[in-house]
Amino acid sequence: MNILAVYGTNYGQAEAVLRRIAAALEARGHTVHVHKGDALPAGLAVDGHDAVVIAASIVMGKHQAYIRRFVEQHRAALQARPGAFVSVNGAAPESDPAWRAEAQGYVDQFLRETGWQPRWTAAFSGALRFPRYGFVTRLIMRLISRQHGGPTDTAQEYEFTDWQAVDRFAAAVAAGLAGEPAGPGAADSPVQA
Ligand SMILES: Cc1cc2nc3c(=O)[nH]c(=O)nc-3n(C[C@H](O)[C@H](O)[C@H](O)COP(=O)(O)O)c2cc1C
Repeated sequence: MNILAVYGTNYGQAEAVLRRIAAALEARGHTVHVHKGDALPAGLAVDGHDAVVIAASIVMGKHQAYIRRFVEQHRAALQARPGAFVSVNGAAPESDPAWRAEAQGYVDQFLRETGWQPRWTAAFSGALRFPRYGFVTRLIMRLISRQHGGPTDTAQEYEFTDWQAVDRFAAAVAAGLAGEPAGPGAADSPVQA
């Protein structure tokens, strides 16, 4: 299948998650076109793809506005083909129930705001990349991390993403797509919840 993959990111983790999913789909024989949501090629047509995967991360309580706009603008085309939405947020172990609840809230918020009902959704924990932040952001993120019992060494980067969970999600999407007709007819396939 010809798959469109679009991501939004501020510090790179959502891109890394999307590229991992793309690699898993390519390993199963699909062709995946990966684009950053604020640098899309002119004339990019969702219609030219059999399926779509979109990833975005949460910074200051919101997914990237350019990803929300992309989904709103292309909602009909997105809805007409199998789609997956992935949210990357927070910096806590994914086993933490408080993280899970908040992460699901971010997914729900995105679907509510955009009106898109993708077949697959997932949330993965992100990273703390202190050296990449500006001075003030680094101080604030260190303070927030300390309040939650997280790491505070601002010389380090900390990754909380459960890559095995990402791989399981990619496998579930691939298995679902395996039951899909490829080619132009895929656009007319009903999207199941
Ligand atoms: C400035 C800043 C603000 C953030 N705000 C939130 C937030 O409001 N809620 C949340 O769950 N995570 C928040 N995070 C955590 C990010 O979601 C996490 O670091 C993620 O890995 C960022 O993804 P990205 O690298 O793709 O931008 C914030 C991180 C930074 C650096």
